[in-house]
Amino acid sequence: MQKAGWQSPSNIALVKYWGKHGRQLPNNPSVSFTLNTAATRTFIAWENYNKFGRVELSFTLEGKENPAFAARIEKFLDSLVDEYFPFLKEVTLQIDSSNSFPHSSGIASSASGMSALALCLCEIEQTISGVTVDQDAFTKKASIISRLGSGSACRSIYPEMGLWGHHPDIAHSSDDYAIGIGAEIHPVFKTFHDDILIVSAKEKSVSSTAGHNLMVGNPYAEARYKQANERIITLLTALREGDLVTFGKITEDEALTLHALMMCSDPSYMLMEEGSLAIIKKVKAFRADTNIPLYFTLDAGPNVHLLYPHENELDVRSFITSELKPLCHEGKIIYDHVGQGAQKIM
Ligand code: PMV
Repeated sequence: MQKAGWQSPSNIALVKYWGKHGRQLPNNPSVSFTLNTAATRTFIAWENYNKFGRVELSFTLEGKENPAFAARIEKFLDSLVDEYFPFLKEVTLQIDSSNSFPHSSGIASSASGMSALALCLCEIEQTISGVTVDQDAFTKKASIISRLGSGSACRSIYPEMGLWGHHPDIAHSSDDYAIGIGAEIHPVFKTFHDDILIVSAKEKSVSSTAGHNLMVGNPYAEARYKQANERIITLLTALREGDLVTFGKITEDEALTLHALMMCSDPSYMLMEEGSLAIIKKVKAFRADTNIPLYFTLDAGPNVHLLYPHENELDVRSFITSELKPLCHEGKIIYDHVGQGAQKIM
């Protein structure tokens, strides 16, 4: 058997993707920090043998069989055969994945998991065909396949920052895949911290897929998409210039807007918990008292991400330990930072 292996990180959006159409196409452009510590490692052992002429795979998570994930991945790979990977009908795959973060941490693994899987598939395709494509074409295809697996996953593979979704004023931007924008950002953001405060480890009551779908019929949807298009441009300028105040204002507004959209969907729902609000209030008070540029964001769940420059690490860490850790589920925190994107590990 031959083997392919990739490690890919999670990412945290600053301008959020919320609402989609067609085959996983975003209703507005989004931009994210690529993380480092929260990552998935995936190995695929494969052989050139297939008995039934359809996708054949086994799947283990951390070495243990996982039928629910296996079924989800099989369905996903089935959907890729005709248009992207005809070779999947001619091979048998043994997929093994492991996450760097604990199962019960409430951290979604779809962005890291789907991007690591997509990269392995692109590599196997290249090995089988014997045609080596250039790095850009390889990355672009991996981003497209990641997107089909889980929208936001398409941003994870790039160093430092990814941007996904077409914007008329952003060259090379596309709804089909993300592009890397790390080269364009001020050095202060290249070493930014993202500490993930685990408020709850419970499974989300409403999935992201259901949440995206509820944007259809949301009375604020059109205004929201317009706002995201405008904010992306303002944020990109702030990222280039190292303007922390504008960065923080947009990032926090985006988190609250995302959750406000959930609260005014029909049916309405709420993913923030008491602990999320308590943390947000303390972060605002800490910033007002100290002038330290500590900001929060949220993804589609109750956990709070704390974003701050590396030079403030000591002060922020001691604030987290004394004031915020007690509000976390079992005191759980993942100390993460901006990372270098996906890496080949085999
Ligand atoms: O990629 P999905 O379908 O899990 O949606 C992710 C949505 C948010 O995390 C809330 C925002 C984003 O852009 O990552």
